[in-house]
Parts: sequence; C-alpha cells; structure tokens
Amino acid sequence: MGKHSSAAAVRKSLAGTCLLTAVLLFGSTAGRAQETTSTNLTSNCSECHGSDGLGFKPGIPHLNGQSEFLLTNMINAFREGKRSTKVKDHRDIAAAAVAPLSRHYAQQKAQRPKSTTSPELVASGEALYLKRCAECHLDNGRDSDKEAPLTAAQDLKYLIAQTLAYSAGERKFPYLMDEAYRGLSEVDLTAIAHFFAAEDQEAPPRKRRRR
Ligand code: HEC
Ligand code: HEC
Repeated sequence: MGKHSSAAAVRKSLAGTCLLTAVLLFGSTAGRAQETTSTNLTSNCSECHGSDGLGFKPGIPHLNGQSEFLLTNMINAFREGKRSTKVKDHRDIAAAAVAPLSRHYAQQKAQRPKSTTSPELVASGEALYLKRCAECHLDNGRDSDKEAPLTAAQDLKYLIAQTLAYSAGERKFPYLMDEAYRGLSEVDLTAIAHFFAAEDQEAPPRKRRRR
C-alpha cells in the first residue's frame, strides 16, 4: 500500500475534478442529478458524518480522505458483525452501497476541524508513536501499511475511545498491533491519540517525505 495508494488517490481525485468540470460545462441538469445522487447515497450517514465526511460532534470519526480500500474494509466489518457498533445504520448498509459510499467519502476534501490537544501529551505521544506505531500508521498517521486506517487529524474523543478499545478487548487486535501495545499504559495510549489528533491531515511541505 502506501505510496501506491496515495498515487492512486491523486489520480482518482484528478478524475473526479475532470468529471466535475464536465458537469459544470455541460449543463445544470446533469449537475443537479449528480447532487441528488450523492445526497441519497449519504442520507443515512450525513446526520452524523455529514455528506462531506466531517464528524458532526466529538466522538464521531471523520471519514473524509480515508482511503477507499480502508473504508470498504471498515464498512464490511460492521455489516458482517466483525466490528461491533451501536449504530444500526452501519449494520444496515446494503451490499450495493458499500463501494459508492467508500468512494464518495474517500474523495471528500473538506478540512477536518482540529480537536483541542495537550502539548505535553502530543510530545510524549510522538515519541511512543515513533517507537511503536509508525511501522503501520505511516507518516504520522497520514498513510497506511498493513491496512492500518489513516489516523492523522482524526477526532480526539473518537481516537482515545478506539485506541483504548483494543487493550480493553472491545475491538479485536489486528495482526501484530497487540505486540506494539505491549507494556503501554492507558496514559501512554491516550498520549498517542493526542499526537494523531494534533497532526495535519495533509503533510505540510517541510514534513513531506521524499519520493
Ligand atoms: C447516529 C450516528 C451515525 C450514523 C447515522 C452513521 N454513523 Fe458511522 N459512526 C458513528 C460513530 C459513533 C462511529 C464510531 C464507531 C461506532 O460507535 O460504531 C462511526 C464509525 C464509522 C466508521 C468507522 C470509521 C473508522 O475510522 O474506523 C465508518 C466507516 C462509518 N461510521 C461509516 C458510516 C456510514 C457509511 C454511514 C451511513 C450508512 C454511517 N456511518 C452512519 C456514528 C454514525
Ligand atoms: C502491525 C501494524 C500495526 C501497528 C504496529 C499498529 N497498528 Fe493500529 N491498526 C492496524 C490495523 C491493521 C488497524 C485496523 C484494524 C481494525 O479495523 O480493527 C489498526 C487500527 C488502529 C486504530 C483504529 C482507527 C480507526 O479509525 O478506527 C487505532 C486507534 C490504532 N490502530 C492505534 C494504534 C496505536 C496507538 C499503535 C501503536 C501503539 C498502533 N495502532 C500500532 C495496524 C497496526
């Protein structure tokens, strides 16, 4: 994954831009049809995730810019009961809606609002992240290996809850992530959540990795 998925995302977003331009050029009827389709698609989601993927309140994850592949995994985990959820809409997603929903949220460019984080926790979280989590949650959580979700600029309350859900046994550890957690306290894990939440979703130029 990693670089390939990012390149694919860029290509997709270029394709999306061309499509949008075509819609704008070739008439408002097509434009309206497009709008209606995307509203229908997200009508059971937008109450909480917005139609642009921004979580409506603390505790609800942002979905915008998450990779299409990972969104597909997440939605299928809910549908198949592999990941428990209290939200009935997650379990009721129709098979035919999985791909269009994943594509839609992956392509959304809205800027994620920053959660308020503690500078001390962000600093200790960064050190722990580099030692324990960077192997899979690449580029400070902006990229992914081994199917790890993108976590940069994710909502803090959601991140803390999910980070602790694994050690509490509420979410099943993926392959080798339990190893990464070994010996970390609740405070350590909370600090890593603060670190991810404080990151920008897009890498600022000075941090951008060489290709
Ligand atoms: C009532 C509010 C609500 C609605 C409606 C809702 N969600 Fe969620 N969503 C949440 C919450 C809260 C979570 C956090 C996990 C959980 O509690 O299940 C979440 C988690 C997710 C995740 C996992 C994100 C991650 O980073 O792991 C995905 C994907 C998702 N929702 C997609 C959808 C889609 C697609 C729809 C519409 C079919 C939808 N949700 C409708 C509240 C909602
Ligand atoms: C060996 C690879 C690997 C390592 C190392 C790893 N993770 Fe993960 N992580 C994953 C995978 C794969 C998932 C998706 C699993 C799932 O859907 O439950 C995940 C999911 C998560 C999630 C849920 C995100 C969401 O949107 O729901 C959090 C939070 C998380 N990891 C935190 C951490 C922290 C903190 C560390 C370091 C202490 C860490 N991970 C180390 C692979 C890894």
